[in-house]
Amino acid sequence: MRNRLEALCRDGIAAVAEAQNADALQEVEVHLLGRNGALTAQLKGLGKLSAEERPAAGKLANEVKQALQKALEDRRAAIDKAELEEDLAGNGIDPTLPGSPMPVGGVHPVMAVARELEDLFSSMGYVVWDGPEIETEAHNFDDLNIPGDHPARESHDTIWMEDTPEDGRLCLRTHTSPVQVRALQKFGAPLRVVAPGRVFRQEAQDATHEHTFHQMEGLVVDKGIGVPHMLHAMNSMLEGIFGRKLETRLRPGFFPFVEPGFELDARCPFCKSGCKVCKGSTWIELMPGGLVHPNVLRAAGVDPEVYSGFAFGLGLSRMAMLRYGIHDIRWMMSGDLRFLEQFPA
Ligand code: DAH
Repeated sequence: MRNRLEALCRDGIAAVAEAQNADALQEVEVHLLGRNGALTAQLKGLGKLSAEERPAAGKLANEVKQALQKALEDRRAAIDKAELEEDLAGNGIDPTLPGSPMPVGGVHPVMAVARELEDLFSSMGYVVWDGPEIETEAHNFDDLNIPGDHPARESHDTIWMEDTPEDGRLCLRTHTSPVQVRALQKFGAPLRVVAPGRVFRQEAQDATHEHTFHQMEGLVVDKGIGVPHMLHAMNSMLEGIFGRKLETRLRPGFFPFVEPGFELDARCPFCKSGCKVCKGSTWIELMPGGLVHPNVLRAAGVDPEVYSGFAFGLGLSRMAMLRYGIHDIRWMMSGDLRFLEQFPA
């Protein structure tokens, strides 16, 4: 039996080496290892051996099987490789040529600024949050202390949804401020949150007005919060955007959801004595903010006797325009690749 197995192994390996293509190799495999193959026939003979002879013969049969399988595998790989090379040569394909480059997308300038600010505010312990773009009249206006007949409602030029009931009208949110109330309702006080997002207004479009643009709301509510805290947050943010400290000033400003309300101006980052951006004044108006009106805290279920806070509303689109020197806001939502391709990934 030993002799027969050794002969089978030797002859088998030689037959494998001679197979010139996949079909021939397949045939050799069936002949050697198939159900009616040579090795199977030998294995059947094992039963006839004496109990002493059987273990050694069984072990040898196993080794022969493994050796044949290995030889088949190696030969198959060699045939595949040879066939591939032949194909490539025949079809004139040169596998060493470089591939065609994949187009690489970039980051939209608004998103670039938003991401940086999200990182900055996250590092200061703020939550990044968002609310729905289709908003209730209550969240967009009433809860923010904007009365029904207040001209601020008109100044927002709201886009109302059709077919919603008079007492629960829906609109496209005109600002990110409703997220102040939503976040407070969800998380309660104390809270630090920023909410970047898209807002919508019925605007006659021009270089500085667009029906769809981006804002980022900020809100901090805690015990003993005052104007210095607000100024610190605003100044840190500007340093984050422009990469250096800017001189800033506060002017009074009116917004129904803050009291007192302010407008923050910064020294023009682009000039020393007046330029187009600052319209010759050396100051540019950057963002409004103020101390959260007690009615807003109440609407969100927070006791204004215990907590106070500040809020600000940054024009993200405007900030991106300032940072990248973009002169027309209409580029921002244009989807025009000639514009977008100028911003790196
Ligand atoms: N929501 C205001 C707007 O879109 C901007 C704003 C002003 C936001 C004052 C604030 C704020 O949080 O305190 O016109």
